[in-house]
Amino acid sequence: MKKLLLTTLLVTSSLFAQTSEVEALAVEKCGSCHLIGAITKDKLNNMSAPPSWALSKKVKTAYPDRRDAIEFIVEYTMSPSEDKMLFSHKTKERFGMMPSQKDVISEDELRAVAQYIIDN
Ligand code: HEC
Repeated sequence: MKKLLLTTLLVTSSLFAQTSEVEALAVEKCGSCHLIGAITKDKLNNMSAPPSWALSKKVKTAYPDRRDAIEFIVEYTMSPSEDKMLFSHKTKERFGMMPSQKDVISEDELRAVAQYIIDN
């Protein structure tokens, strides 16, 4: 299991060796809703989801182990559900549930993006 995880990490990090690539992916796939990338006043006034810094903090508080935090993001993003949700019902009332991103991003890409969100 440990070996598998290590292999996955190695493969993931060599596929996405450059932070800027992962950053571009995060901006493209999650940025419009979670405010990754350039922040404008307009974007702040029209938020459609919790911003990525709030997301990162929320997940790290619930999952202090970095790997658990990354796995949570991957799992939730592929299949969001109310019972897994870390944000309160107020977040759901304000923004609605996140639509599953499984048709939008591959699991390898998502894992790299999840690492980026946790580390930033
Ligand atoms: C269409 C808008 C949209 C996109 C695109 C989007 N999200 Fe979200 N996301 C939301 C909304 C709305 C919430 C808050 C409601 C919820 O938790 O489901 C959310 C919540 C989350 C949460 C927190 C769940 C919790 O525990 O409450 C995570 C983690 C997350 N998103 C990750 C991602 C990642 C990673 C991507 C990019 C691959 C992404 N999201 C793309 C709208 C989006």
